[in-house]
Amino acid sequence: MRRIFSGIQPTGVPQLGNYLGAIRNWVGLQRDNECIFCLVDMHAITVWQDPKALREQTLAQTAVLLASGIDVQRHILFNQSAVTAHARLAWIFNCVARLGWLNRMTQFKDKAGKDRENHSAGLYVYPDLMAADILTYKATAVPVGDDQRQHLELTNDIAQKFNHDYGLEFFPTVEALIPPQGARVMSLRDGTKKMSKSDPSAQSRIEMTDDADTIALKIRRAKTDPEPLPSEEAGLESRPEARNLVTIYATMQGCSIQDVLNRHGGEGFGPFKKALTDVLVQHIAPIADETTRLLKEPGFLQDTLRDGARRARTIAEPIVSEAESLVGFLK
Ligand code: TYM
Repeated sequence: MRRIFSGIQPTGVPQLGNYLGAIRNWVGLQRDNECIFCLVDMHAITVWQDPKALREQTLAQTAVLLASGIDVQRHILFNQSAVTAHARLAWIFNCVARLGWLNRMTQFKDKAGKDRENHSAGLYVYPDLMAADILTYKATAVPVGDDQRQHLELTNDIAQKFNHDYGLEFFPTVEALIPPQGARVMSLRDGTKKMSKSDPSAQSRIEMTDDADTIALKIRRAKTDPEPLPSEEAGLESRPEARNLVTIYATMQGCSIQDVLNRHGGEGFGPFKKALTDVLVQHIAPIADETTRLLKEPGFLQDTLRDGARRARTIAEPIVSEAESLVGFLK
């Protein structure tokens, strides 16, 4: 049985990209694997977060994950800061990772933009903490969306250098589990930009707590082009918005892009958007309803995370303690 680890930042309501790129796969992987899922609040504060909002969003995301089908009886769900082993291993990894490696991270460049000097040091070493999250548990498979690919490559570089420097095969190689479809859901307002929790426009994303009317409105307003849908996949090239909507439909339905075009090719966006709305509402409404119900029980949500953190610690402590001994820390 593989040990799976993955995380999500509690910085807003999970959006459709989080769901299709990650959460839905987390749910499926629970069947045959030992899974550890984490709300990465320490990663969240690499950019300013209002403390009250961070606490609320941590609970709200817990509700969405439970409503999506994360099974906390058989698997572990907790918030990162509650297991201090992550921070201890991250410090060691800050000393293992080379500046040259971090300088190549495209997410840092995207987030910091031209104004590098004004961003937190935490944002720069973000990928070291991510490597620590995974290797604190010696997890070997990590289900993520496409945007995390480079971070997982860095995780393997760090593990390899640690193993080399301290003379052991201590950390395993990590495999990225990236879905063949839905790994990069794009914004509804701009098909060249990733759908994101942090986009200032809520119209750019479907949130996993949106009700039917909101979903219908966002899809109706989604940017498209004047042409009807093509009947062949090649016809979606250089039509990023059309490709995105077709990909969302296909991924939600578990079929291929060509299957969707066989059914809807030649149609205008009016009827296609209606069909897409129906599919989205059918999948998201039950998750949104259950989330609303769970949010009325903040005590239960907090206990769930506390229990998850307790169980996570029992796996993390011996591994990180051994890593510290290997480095030469006196115990
Ligand atoms: P975060 O919170 O940005 O996103 C959580 C997961 O959702 C995926 N995702 C997407 N997939 C498809 N299309 C999109 N538009 C889209 N937007 C987000 C992300 O790829 C991710 O899988 N650094 C991570 C959190 C993290 C982590 C980890 C993940 C911290 N430690 C250890 C794995 C293992 C992040 O910011 O995810």
